[in-house]
Amino acid sequence: MTILVTGAAGFIGSNFVLNWFDKEKEDVISFDNLTYAGNLDNLSSLLKNNRHYFVKGDIGNSELISSTLQKYQPTAIINFAAESHVDKSISAPDTFIKTNILGTYKLLKSTLSYWGTLKEKQKKDFRFIHISTDEVYGDLDKNNSPFTEENRYIPNSPYSASKAASDHLVRAWHQTYNLPVITTNCSNNYGSFQFPEKLIPLCIINAINEKPLPLYGDGKQIRDWLYVDDHCEAIRLILKKGAIGETYNIGGNTEKTNIQVALLICKVLDNLQPRSDKISYDQQISFVKDRQGHDRRYAIDSSKIQKELGWHPKETFESGMVKTIEWYLDHEEWVKNIISGDYKKWIDNHYL
Ligand code: NAD
Ligand code: DAU
Repeated sequence: MTILVTGAAGFIGSNFVLNWFDKEKEDVISFDNLTYAGNLDNLSSLLKNNRHYFVKGDIGNSELISSTLQKYQPTAIINFAAESHVDKSISAPDTFIKTNILGTYKLLKSTLSYWGTLKEKQKKDFRFIHISTDEVYGDLDKNNSPFTEENRYIPNSPYSASKAASDHLVRAWHQTYNLPVITTNCSNNYGSFQFPEKLIPLCIINAINEKPLPLYGDGKQIRDWLYVDDHCEAIRLILKKGAIGETYNIGGNTEKTNIQVALLICKVLDNLQPRSDKISYDQQISFVKDRQGHDRRYAIDSSKIQKELGWHPKETFESGMVKTIEWYLDHEEWVKNIISGDYKKWIDNHYL
């Protein structure tokens, strides 16, 4: 038995693969074209694991996807591969359209052809799990209820619009061709291996390097935060018990303003690694120009997955943040390699 994980060298994908090897027996094919956000160093602990295979490639490369599916005969595909950074989608949307929309379309087509070759039992057991985001539901006012699976899709950024398009394609491949798909819509993740373009790792790394912690606009935008391992557990559960054709919202029930997030990071750092002058890191918080079209608030109602599948997040925001900050403090080399771009050399030396 084998599963194929796309985007496996990214933040959530690599956490998922590592979590999988901790808990499950099936082999894993990590499929990733190693964009700037893909870092095989994240999977270095699996270098000598003979149940782990790595294929470098684009989900939009139908030939490579098809030959990989034929060769390894996976029982499931978990699709994490995407361009994921909202700011980048605003300044350079092309790759978002290419990967998130066209890439997903090509991946679905290749998967459907492969699925059609399977025997009845394998066909029935096969799953295509598509990892999406809460951002497809748009922006909430302070008084609106959290997003449920019934909310309309109202994406506001090129990123969320491209993810929304991919979700619709995944749905269509089920409704039209019966491909056994499940889509998940998750809130903001944080934890180990997150690329420092995103708020939490950026603030941690800037803080210890005596740089400003840049908060957009008034810093009062709200996100719901989920520790990445809790997300990985939810996906494993959905793969086993989720209903075909359904969508599941996943969230941490932890709404925080960006200021609250930055202040918590400073408080944890003040405790774990105080500044030499003993002044709090919160002195480094600085307010900068706002993101264009910045969504004010996201909030997720995860009661469906909680009731139907029995999933609950284990970490609180405080406990998850301590683990995350400890991880970044313990992995100076990883951070240094990311900042210098040296992790690409590591890949050349070990895999290609
Ligand atoms: P990431 O940017 O850290 O990783 C994305 C990975 O996909 C990288 O390894 C990259 O090399 C790979 N990739 C990109 N384009 C590819 C292509 N064309 N072919 C093959 N591989 C490609 O992203 P992440 O934060 O780990 O997010 C993973 C998925 O989860 C995305 O689909 C994202 O939309 C979704 N998601 C993320 C969050 C979050 O908070 N990070 C929350 C909800 C949903
Ligand atoms: O909601 C799920 C989404 O969460 C995922 O689908 C995306 O892939 C993921 O990147 C994330 O999107 P956000 O835009 O919410 O994440 P980001 O870390 O970029 O920003 C979090 C909040 O912090 C947001 O309100 C913007 C703000 N921000 C971000 C950065 C990078 C700042 O104030 N300053 C910054 O420097």
